[in-house]
Amino acid sequence: MKTRITELLGIKHPIIQGAMSWVSFPPLVAAVSNAGGLGILGAAFMSPEELRENIRQIKDQTDKPFGVNFMPENPQLDLLLDIIIKEKVPVASYGKGNPHKIIERTRPYGIINMPTMGAVRHAVRAEQDGADAVIVQGTEGGGHTGFVATLVLLPLVASKLKIPVVAAGGIGDGRGMVAALSLGAEGVSMGSRFIVTREAPIPLSIKHYLIQRTEEDTVITDNLTGVRCRVIRNKFAESLLEMTKSKADPWEIMQHGVGKIRKAFVEGDLESGSFACGQVCGLIEDIPTCQELIERIVIEAEEVIGSMGEKFLSPK
Ligand SMILES: Cc1cc2nc3c(=O)[nH]c(=O)nc-3n(C[C@H](O)[C@H](O)[C@H](O)COP(=O)(O)O)c2cc1C
Repeated sequence: MKTRITELLGIKHPIIQGAMSWVSFPPLVAAVSNAGGLGILGAAFMSPEELRENIRQIKDQTDKPFGVNFMPENPQLDLLLDIIIKEKVPVASYGKGNPHKIIERTRPYGIINMPTMGAVRHAVRAEQDGADAVIVQGTEGGGHTGFVATLVLLPLVASKLKIPVVAAGGIGDGRGMVAALSLGAEGVSMGSRFIVTREAPIPLSIKHYLIQRTEEDTVITDNLTGVRCRVIRNKFAESLLEMTKSKADPWEIMQHGVGKIRKAFVEGDLESGSFACGQVCGLIEDIPTCQELIERIVIEAEEVIGSMGEKFLSPK
């Protein structure tokens, strides 16, 4: 499947592994890139030294393109960008914040800028700022997420932008991929689905835990500072919701959340950890390798496209 996204990123399949803090470490990133997709390192909480080390680990495991995700508001942004430039990272990925400065800094070095946006106006702005492509994430997606569902957000963005658009939020199989392509996307980005793969470097118990969750088991926590996050509903999520409801001090709520994604995915704490995850967990039933997952999605997508005509009854 060739699209403008496969050509731009130099990958075989238009499938991207969305950045995931505490999950998309080098083994997962490299596995996705080696399987013909684009793996993205979740480096939001990494120091410059950790970032350099992680990039080198990825390069040891793959010679294919990959991306690095970081936070534009990181006080050490300039240092992080120095490393990304020096290490010749192919793709820069980031979320909220103004991409202008990052694009200006990295573009002269041939780095592809592909920010993730959750609202039409932000996607339009990213194109004006010079982004090469955008990922648009609908509200059903895991982690930081917006208000509008992929089914509505995606065609709106795709009809307004000239640069290629990648769909994120709620995609877990070939049917979702075809839906996204039909709505104007030229590639898909999946986070939650890639958590439950053999190479994702998290405890096996968490993968089974996520398989058991249904599409109704996520909730959006809003910590009053504007950072909405879709997570699995557990004791920790309930406590955040309760604090929000009782109008606790935003700083106190933020402190309550510090380190909780790590607690979930690294320590495997089912109740006190924050499991960022999308509604697509309802569709996840097994633990394939990244190669198996990507190949299966592409084959299913091609089958769905080929069989579309069979849905229609022939006129009498
Ligand atoms: C555990 C987890 C951590 C995430 N961390 C980040 C992050 O650090 N930076 C970022 O831009 N997006 C992050 N995301 C969002 C994903 O990159 C991706 O856009 C999202 O998972 C897509 O929706 P899906 O879960 O329905 O596939 C995270 C998502 C999850 C599930």
